Amino acid sequence: MERFRRTRLNPQLRSLVRETYVGVNDFIYPLFVRPGEGIKTEVSSMPGVYQMSLDEILKECELLQSLGIYSIILFGIPAVKDSIGSDALCDHGIIATAVRAIKRAYPKMFVVTDLCFCEYTDHGHCGILDHVHETVDNDLTLGISAQQALVHARAGADMIAPSGMMDGIITTLRDALDGGGYANLPIMSYSTKFASGYYGPFRDVAESVPSFGDRSSYQMDPANRREAIRESLADEAQGADILMVKPALAYLDIIRDIREASQLPLAVYNVSGEYAMLKCAGAAGLIDYNRVMMETMVGFKRAGADIIISYHAKEVAQLLN
Ligand code: PBG
Ligand code: ZN
Repeated sequence: MERFRRTRLNPQLRSLVRETYVGVNDFIYPLFVRPGEGIKTEVSSMPGVYQMSLDEILKECELLQSLGIYSIILFGIPAVKDSIGSDALCDHGIIATAVRAIKRAYPKMFVVTDLCFCEYTDHGHCGILDHVHETVDNDLTLGISAQQALVHARAGADMIAPSGMMDGIITTLRDALDGGGYANLPIMSYSTKFASGYYGPFRDVAESVPSFGDRSSYQMDPANRREAIRESLADEAQGADILMVKPALAYLDIIRDIREASQLPLAVYNVSGEYAMLKCAGAAGLIDYNRVMMETMVGFKRAGADIIISYHAKEVAQLLN
């Protein structure tokens, strides 16, 4: 008989034969910035996650660095929303202001900016509306996305992460960045993003619930595996530097598929609903929270992810330190 247990008996040997590791360098931590001062409002559906004004964001960066976390992804919640998300197109809007301040105070912090319009539009959709078809107009949205990318670049963003699932977005942004003198600015594409119920809590914190309909006319059908691979490969062909699968937990097969179909680095977004489920079960005493959290993270790495975007990042770092 094959004696599998031979290498499981000694803890040192178990660690020698361990195939997958989770480290603090694997993580990007999401932050939500809003206007004002002294504001730190916890999101009821996401214990431990806050909307913060810029002064609080800067304190948070200090804490993150003390934990060894040097990568963040930034979402802006503007004071004023309108039909095209003007705040996101302005060099003095919430996101540009925040990026400049963070890079000034914490130059070593690697600042990724989420590039989308749903937090900035009064209708909550991810671009300019096509009123006839009651959906987002793809090509009009490409134009303002290029503008938004240049706003992020001028503010000093270290990487741009388009999350709106518009066709042709990577070509558009790459051209805009190259043309603007930002050929070295990388793009992490939300390349395979599903229309998911797991985004529920995020829309509370980002105040981005669509005022009508849903995002199924631009985000992917959760049932589609071949299309999921094509989406990521298309973004690779257009020049994306890093691909992404989102959400993570219900899509581990897709992570593995894309890992095998592409040589690019691959990120997973461990989304708000996934975080909320663990928090809730942990608080109710139904699971050993820390243990299940670490098991989940190692599952993402084992499935083929290189990078994990997660609200758990600080807790993981605390456990690893
Ligand atoms: C915006 C965006 C969403 C998330 C990241 N960027 C939500 C959405 O598409 O509604 C989800 C993050 C999460 O649920 O944690 N395009
Ligand atoms: Zn969006």
